[in-house]
Amino acid sequence: MPQDSPSTPVGSSCGLGDVGILGYGSQGRAQALNLRDSGVAVQVGLREDSASRAHVLRDGLVSCSLDKLAREMDWIAFLIPDEAQPAVYARLEPLLRPGTALVFAHGFNIHYQKIIPRDDLDVLLVAPLAVGEKVRALYESGGGPPCVIACARDASGQALLRAYRYAQALNRKPVRVFESSFAEETETDLFAEQAILCGGLNHLIAAGFETLVAAGYQPEIAYFCCLEEVKYMADLISARGLAGMREAISTTAEYGDFTRGPRVIGEATRAAMSDLLAEIRSGAFARELDQELQQGGARLAEFRRRAHEQDIETVRQRVLGHSRKAVGPGDS
Ligand SMILES: NC(=O)c1ccc[n+]([C@@H]2O[C@H](COP(=O)([O-])OP(=O)(O)OC[C@H]3O[C@@H](n4cnc5c(N)ncnc54)[C@H](OP(=O)(O)O)[C@@H]3O)[C@@H](O)[C@H]2O)c1
Repeated sequence: MPQDSPSTPVGSSCGLGDVGILGYGSQGRAQALNLRDSGVAVQVGLREDSASRAHVLRDGLVSCSLDKLAREMDWIAFLIPDEAQPAVYARLEPLLRPGTALVFAHGFNIHYQKIIPRDDLDVLLVAPLAVGEKVRALYESGGGPPCVIACARDASGQALLRAYRYAQALNRKPVRVFESSFAEETETDLFAEQAILCGGLNHLIAAGFETLVAAGYQPEIAYFCCLEEVKYMADLISARGLAGMREAISTTAEYGDFTRGPRVIGEATRAAMSDLLAEIRSGAFARELDQELQQGGARLAEFRRRAHEQDIETVRQRVLGHSRKAVGPGDS
């Protein structure tokens, strides 16, 4: 259920104490800057020789070692890649003070027990519902990201309230939060990535493009129809919802949607979605990923190599080159 944080007026976030941000990537930078601008004392923990140290200084923030962060901060936000978190946590755990709040932006490592924190720590989920750049842009324009919050361990007796307060400090206006669990956030997030946002969409685009090209249509035209126009439709859906999007498209497109869409996303696709969800819920997906990374990621590297060599990528380079040339005066 969405909730506004009633017991946390805007501005009260300044009483958070010292917050340590681990990592200065997509979420790390956005969250560190939002917290700082909300009046929170923030330090950014970086590994030795980190290339991000200069960036942190340029942004007017203080950087320190991971060990110092672990020893001195009241909060530690794990904003390094999920696959790096277990080893870093294991190293830092002996340094953490009792009562420290561990903040995660994604539930994966806690839910699948890749990290099992000490009993005397609060374990919080504050997952902004936006990518890092958007987390910062929303704040700069006077708002902030809605957040999914949860608590996996409540050593202080105040863990969920602490999660609210952290989420509030990422916002300028009263934050909209969705109270959830590590399991729900992790499982829904993985499912959406696999079935829709990454796996589903990428393969739908490639299959559509390849179908048109195999039927003899120009690859450039197929590229625009199947890939570039996705952005316009995604913007429409985001602004108006599925029903509103249908009101904005032609009757021809709408009729094709209602009658042909279910043939593409039919029973077989729904059954595959159920299978994906079952693998996520049983932990089979997490174990498979773990095994792949433990063995050096050769299969992943091969997937990446082949993805770069797809025809649609070659056509994209050609199309972008041509459109740039076409805008110049005198170009034919
Ligand atoms: N990306 C998003 O917008 C997004 C959205 C929602 C939730 N999340 C969650 O937020 C968390 C952070 O994701 P992210 O995408 O923001 O991460 P990211 O951009 O990939 O993080 C990069 C940062 O992590 C540091 N780092 C990498 N490996 C490290 C290690 N072994 N030891 C110490 N530091 C290390 C890098 O250090 P250097 O600077 O030294 O290279 C860099 O500062 C994840 O749990 C993710 O699931 C992300």
